[in-house]
Amino acid sequence: MKIQTLILTLLATAGTALGSQVYSNLWIPPTLTGPIYNLNLHATNKYYLPGSNTVTYAYNNVDFWGPTLIMSNGDTVQINLTNNLPDTTTTHWHGFHIPAIMDGGPHETIPTGTTWSPTFTVLNRASTYWYHPHLHTLTQNHLGHGAGGFIIVHDAQESALPLPRTYGVDDIPLVLTSRRFYTTAAQLNQFNVTNGATGCAYGDYELVNGCMNFGATNVEVFLPQQYVRLRILNAEIERVYNLGFSNNLTFYQIGTDGGLVNAPVPLTRVVLAPGERTEILLNLGTNAIGSAVNLMAYNSASSLGSTLSFGYPGEESGTSGEFGSLLNDINFQILHIVVTNATANPILALPTVLCTNTFWTTANVTKSRTITLTGGQPPSGVFVFDSSPFSINVVNQYVSLNAVEEWTIVNTSIFSHAFHIHDVEFTPLARTGSGVMTGIQAYEQGWKDTIYVQQNSSVSFIAKFDNFASPYNPFMYHCHMIDHEDEGTMAQFVVQNTNTEDLYITSCTRTGTNQNINLNFNATPGTTYQLLFSTNFTTGSWSPVATVTSDGTSVNYYETNATRLALARGFYRINEPTNNY
Ligand code: C2O
Ligand code: CU
Repeated sequence: MKIQTLILTLLATAGTALGSQVYSNLWIPPTLTGPIYNLNLHATNKYYLPGSNTVTYAYNNVDFWGPTLIMSNGDTVQINLTNNLPDTTTTHWHGFHIPAIMDGGPHETIPTGTTWSPTFTVLNRASTYWYHPHLHTLTQNHLGHGAGGFIIVHDAQESALPLPRTYGVDDIPLVLTSRRFYTTAAQLNQFNVTNGATGCAYGDYELVNGCMNFGATNVEVFLPQQYVRLRILNAEIERVYNLGFSNNLTFYQIGTDGGLVNAPVPLTRVVLAPGERTEILLNLGTNAIGSAVNLMAYNSASSLGSTLSFGYPGEESGTSGEFGSLLNDINFQILHIVVTNATANPILALPTVLCTNTFWTTANVTKSRTITLTGGQPPSGVFVFDSSPFSINVVNQYVSLNAVEEWTIVNTSIFSHAFHIHDVEFTPLARTGSGVMTGIQAYEQGWKDTIYVQQNSSVSFIAKFDNFASPYNPFMYHCHMIDHEDEGTMAQFVVQNTNTEDLYITSCTRTGTNQNINLNFNATPGTTYQLLFSTNFTTGSWSPVATVTSDGTSVNYYETNATRLALARGFYRINEPTNNY
């Protein structure tokens, strides 16, 4: 009888069975290289549970998530993103330092059936970034259905280091999330991706790269007997992960959200809030072939201990309702790692030094501001920044181009949050207050764009807002718990180029009758200006003549238009920079 049961289990799955455990293989996203990336965002479906397939969203022809975009610092890339979802959406390049209009936040909408083609130069350091939909009120729905992907950026410094970097072999991206399924006939096996009272803040089953740990089935991967690199992203709704390995193996953090750390940081646990990434090295070189180690979430209150448990998202008791979950307040397995033969040229040693970061310090700060998080859950209220829920028509902060700012996020709300800011990678400075996690943790001492802000805590960081300014296109900051974000825990800032007082025409010469006019004006290097013309200085209407880009500190413009040259008198004006999108 027992033997028959085991055989049936084997026939019913594509995995391998060991005792009562059944293993299914980890899916590794395919890669796309540039400089042109074509992405098709579409609805599809995936088999998770018997009875009916689950509707999922994905980029390109996969059944959950999307391809990993491989980029290098200095590349100029273009992404052609076609939205074939039933809804308007957007796609944001999380962690990227690019002009606001290319950022893919809630403003850069892509109606169904249309293609958006942002282009930008990759200025980011080597690290693990990601892309995902960002339409206000529908982010949980679209990301929750599975739409997202990794972006791996390489740079010269990282490429020169003896680190594992064979994608899918010793360099493995892992996106962690969890989902709850509807059990009613009308929505059987569909993801619950709504927020509010009928939604769920925590899924019931763990998904790693979209592959589900369910019942006796665990997701497994075979990794070589050497140092391997895991790039781990928390793409959850609200759950925070306290990650570690089943044998309490020490692992080494080599990178945070936005770059390498100075030297590997030995750890046995790392806490990842939604939106955060970590890159770690795991030494499997001394583990026997065929032996296994499990990547675990040590999320039970007793595992968390008093330093983490208060207000810990995913520690709530109860197994149902908006804030209950089958995975809450327990330790659970994410990935079963089986050691297999080493590759040719394995990495067998841990580098002692990775890079020399110049982090921001308070000595660099030119302005400080404080953002306060208050409120509670609907219907009684929503979590908000500075007393106002998100409005797409309100700019909440004005930042000067090139300012080095210290931001302090004060959380006086009734829960913990994951603060994310667009445009910059910041240096975490301090975590204070009566919250139970205090201080910047060993694994947070690097470039970050998202940070865990526990209940009753304040977190401050320093960032420089350089390169991109626009009076018209704001950047976002928000809680990366996507139900909170959709409910209004989001705000926006504009980076202003206040350097406009430098703009004046330094010379204007005209030689002979109807000869060329030479205008010469001082200009910020690399900045594009709009030149306008009018026949009447006080009452005339100004019409555009040209856009001119400075290649140094000044711009020369030679008038060649016959109509304007034929006039007895005319006026030129330089407008606000227009490359500021
Ligand atoms: Cu990962 Cu504003 O987003
Ligand atoms: Cu939040």
